[in-house]
Amino acid sequence: MSDALTLKKAVAREALRWVEPGSIIGVGTGSTVDCFIDALGQSGIALAGAVSSSNRTEEKLRSVGVAVLDLNDVVELGVYIDGADEIDPALNLIKGGGGALTREKVVAEAARLFVCIADASKEVAVLGNFALPIEVLPIASALIQRKVEEMGGIPKLRSGFITDNGNIIIDVSGLSITDPQAMESKINQWPGVVTCGLFALRKADVACIATPDGVRVSEANKQ
Ligand code: 5RP
Repeated sequence: MSDALTLKKAVAREALRWVEPGSIIGVGTGSTVDCFIDALGQSGIALAGAVSSSNRTEEKLRSVGVAVLDLNDVVELGVYIDGADEIDPALNLIKGGGGALTREKVVAEAARLFVCIADASKEVAVLGNFALPIEVLPIASALIQRKVEEMGGIPKLRSGFITDNGNIIIDVSGLSITDPQAMESKINQWPGVVTCGLFALRKADVACIATPDGVRVSEANKQ
């Protein structure tokens, strides 16, 4: 039986396939990404640098000797590697369990290829079992919670949590997200929302899924 950490380490090693020596990569946030950064450090692959999606990842990248670059100074980002909280068959994602969703979305948008690394427990037929995180300006907290309720969701303010951007997170349960692109667009246009944790308008291109029988790779355009 593979435990969760073994699966994360396996998929983290697999992701090295997409890392070109001498390139600049984008790096997400979370425990699976932490395993990827460890694998990267051990691999001996020399990068020109990496763009980070959080303070946590930035610190960890530096600890393995990877130069952290500002996205504004980078012209080309070949690949973005990140985990997910849920992944559907079309490779739409829910992200933001770790609260880094906004910077993750920005860095993913800048990359030519988005490789999502996760274990099979994250795979779902329809997104929404995992509470959807929304990053919100503090002034809009009550407004957005009312809008979520009008939409049929159950909002919960993430207690004691402030994002790297100085905002709050509202986690929304009770949703069955059959049209992720439409819901992402709808929530993102509410004033006060920075972004929601749906990654459907820019979903993953490749999913590496760790199972006890090995790592399964699928591509979005081959679904
Ligand atoms: C952070 C994220 C993470 O990718 C997501 O929460 C998965 O994390 P983990 O690899 O620890 O399960 O979106 O904002």
